[in-house]
Amino acid sequence: SLVDKANYRHFMAKEIHEQPEVVGHTLARYIDMASERVMLPVTLPFDFKDIQRVSITACGTANLAGYVAKYWFERLARIPVEIDIASEFRYREAPLRKGDLAIFISQSGETADTLAALRYAKGEGAHTLSVVNVPTSTIARESETVLQTLAGPEIGVASTKAFTCQLMVLASLAVAAGKTRGELSDEDETKLVHGLVEIPRLMAAALTIEPQIEKLARDISKSKDVLYLGRGTSYPLALEGALKLKEISYIHAEGYAAGELKHGPIALIDENMPVVVIAPHDRVFEKTVSNMQEVAARGGNIILMTDAKGAAEATIESLVTIVLPDMAATFTPMVYAVPVQLLAYHTAVVMGTDVDQPRNLAKSVTVE
Ligand code: G6P
Repeated sequence: SLVDKANYRHFMAKEIHEQPEVVGHTLARYIDMASERVMLPVTLPFDFKDIQRVSITACGTANLAGYVAKYWFERLARIPVEIDIASEFRYREAPLRKGDLAIFISQSGETADTLAALRYAKGEGAHTLSVVNVPTSTIARESETVLQTLAGPEIGVASTKAFTCQLMVLASLAVAAGKTRGELSDEDETKLVHGLVEIPRLMAAALTIEPQIEKLARDISKSKDVLYLGRGTSYPLALEGALKLKEISYIHAEGYAAGELKHGPIALIDENMPVVVIAPHDRVFEKTVSNMQEVAARGGNIILMTDAKGAAEATIESLVTIVLPDMAATFTPMVYAVPVQLLAYHTAVVMGTDVDQPRNLAKSVTVE
C-alpha cells in the first residue's frame, strides 16, 4: 500500500519518528534558509499591521496547537488572540469585526465543527486563514488563505506529526506577524529563525530518550489517574499530554496550568497519581518548580520533563527526570511534544490497547 508501517509496530510509532523529517519539510516551506527570513509561500490578503485581534478555532489536538500559537502571537507580535473550541465558537456566535483575522487549524480539513466555524467567520467578514494538512479538503477550499502542513498522510487516530507541523507553521506565521508589526527587529527575526531551523535536529535528539520513556510507561500503566502540569506554552502541551494519554491508553488524565494546582487538583495528590511536569528552563521555570515542591510535599510522584539546566536546579526528592536537549525557550513545545507522545504511546502498548484505532474515536469527525 501507499502508506505502510515500515518497521514499526503501529502507525503512531512511525508517525512520531517521522517528525524530524516532516517538520523539516514544513520548515523549508516557510523559511528561506539563505536569507534566514520567514517567507510565506502565499501572499497574505491582509496586512498584519491592520489586524487588531486574531481568533483561532479548532478541535482536539489541533485546538491545542492553536493554544500554543496564542502565546506566540501575543509574545512575538503583541496581537491579542482568542483561542476557541470550534463547537463553542460556532454556537456562541463569537463577535468578529470585519477585517479581523480568524485562523482555523485542522489536520483533515473536514472536521464538521471547524468547517462550520470557518463559514460563520466568513459570513462575519473576517479574513479566514486555515492551517491544514490535506490541501484538497473542504476547509482548505473554503478558506481565503491556506497554509499547508507537510506532515504527509497521518493514519494513527491520535494526531502526532500533524500537531508538530501545525506548530511549525504557526510559529513561522507568528514571527512574520511580529516582523510586519515592527515588534521584532531583523536581528530578532534571525535569532528566532535560527531557533526554528534547529527544531528537526532537536526533535531527533528527543527521540533518543525513548528507552527511558518505555520503562517509565510501565509505571504509568499501573495508575488510574495522571496529572500533567505546565506553564506558558508548556500549559497547552500539558493539555495535549493528558489528551494523548486518555485517548490511547484509556487512563484518566488531566492537564492543568501549574499555577492553578492549588485551586483544585492539589486535593488529588497522593502517591498513586503520577504528576508529569513539563518545564523547560524558561522564564517561568522557577514558578513551576515551586508548584513541584507543593506536589512533592504531599507525597506526589513527579516525572519532570526539562533540560540539563532545569534538572540541575530542580532538586526535589522522588523525582524522575527526563532530560531534553538545551534549546531556545520560545519553541520548546515542538521538542517536548516528543516525550509527551512517546509516554502516551508506550503506556498504551503496555496496556495492550488498539493504539492506531482507539475505541470510540474517529480520525476525522465529519458529523456533529
Ligand atoms: C479527532 C482526532 C484528533 C484530532 C481532531 C481534530 O478527534 O481523533 O486526533 O485532533 O479530530 O481533527 P482535525 O482533522 O480537524 O485536525
